[in-house]
Amino acid sequence: MSLQAVHWAADQDEFASVASGILANLLRSGREISLALPTGQTPIGLYRQIVGLCRKGDVSFARTRLFNLDEYLGASPDTPQSYHAFLHHHLIDHIDIPASRVRLLRGDTADPAAECRSYDQAIEAAGGIDMAILGLGANGHIAFNEPGSSWNSQTHVIRLAAQTRAAHRPDFSNADAVPRFGITMGIATILQAKKIMLLCAGKGKEQALSMLLAGQGSSAWPVTSLIGHPDLTIVAQARLRGSQNLQSPAGQNNSTRQAIGQTASRL
Ligand code: GLP
Repeated sequence: MSLQAVHWAADQDEFASVASGILANLLRSGREISLALPTGQTPIGLYRQIVGLCRKGDVSFARTRLFNLDEYLGASPDTPQSYHAFLHHHLIDHIDIPASRVRLLRGDTADPAAECRSYDQAIEAAGGIDMAILGLGANGHIAFNEPGSSWNSQTHVIRLAAQTRAAHRPDFSNADAVPRFGITMGIATILQAKKIMLLCAGKGKEQALSMLLAGQGSSAWPVTSLIGHPDLTIVAQARLRGSQNLQSPAGQNNSTRQAIGQTASRL
C-alpha cells in the first residue's frame, strides 16, 4: 500500500496543524533534509504554524535545504507576485535557515534552459528531495506541470494553462499582466521525492482530488502521476470529500488519521 493516509481536515486551523505536524516530525529527525515547497493560498497556514514552532525552538531548519516548486518566468525576486517573494514573506525570513541553504528558481534568468539545468544539479547535489509539499491546481496541476505535461520531466519552462492564468488574475492589475509562462520542477523530480505531502484546499479542487483518489493515471490530470508513489500523504479539506464517496470508519471524525481501505489499495 503506497498511500500513507488521507487526513480530512474540518477547518483551516486543523488543516494547518495536520500539515505542519507532518513537516515538524520530519524536521525533528535532525537529519539533513531537502524540501520542495509550494506557494498559493493553501500552504499559508502551514507556514504560519511552522514559523511559530521554529520561533519557540520546537523545530529547526538549520540543517534543511529549501527548493521551491515553481516560479513565473520573467519574475525577479523583487517582483511582488513572485514565488520567491512569497516564500520569503511567509517562511524564509522567519526561520533559522542559512541563506546558503536556500535555492529558489530564478524567473528572471537570461538563460532559462541553463537555469533549469543548474536547478536540477542543485537538487541532485542535495541528494534529491526528501519531502515535496505540493499544492493542487483546479485543473489537476502540481507545481506548474499543467495537463498534458510529461511525467518524465525535470525542471522546465511551461506555457501556463488558461485556467491557471485565470486563477492567478486577482494577484495582477489586469488579465494581460498575468505571466504566460512558468518555470517548474518536473514531475519526474517530484516523483523521486522520498515523501510527498499533497495539500488539497480551495475552490474547484473536487474533481482533481477525485481523479487522484479514483486511482487511475491520466496525463490530463497531472496529480494522478502521484498514484503509486511509495510515500504519499494527502491533507485535504473535509468539504472536498463530498464527491469522494469515502466513509469514515465508525467513531472517527474528520480529523482522524484515516485508514484508507479500498481506495488506498488502488493507489
Ligand atoms: C499555483 C502554483 C501551484 C499551486 C497552485 C494552487 O498554480 N503554481 O504550485 O499549487 O497555484 O494554488 P492555491 O493554493 O492558491 O489554490
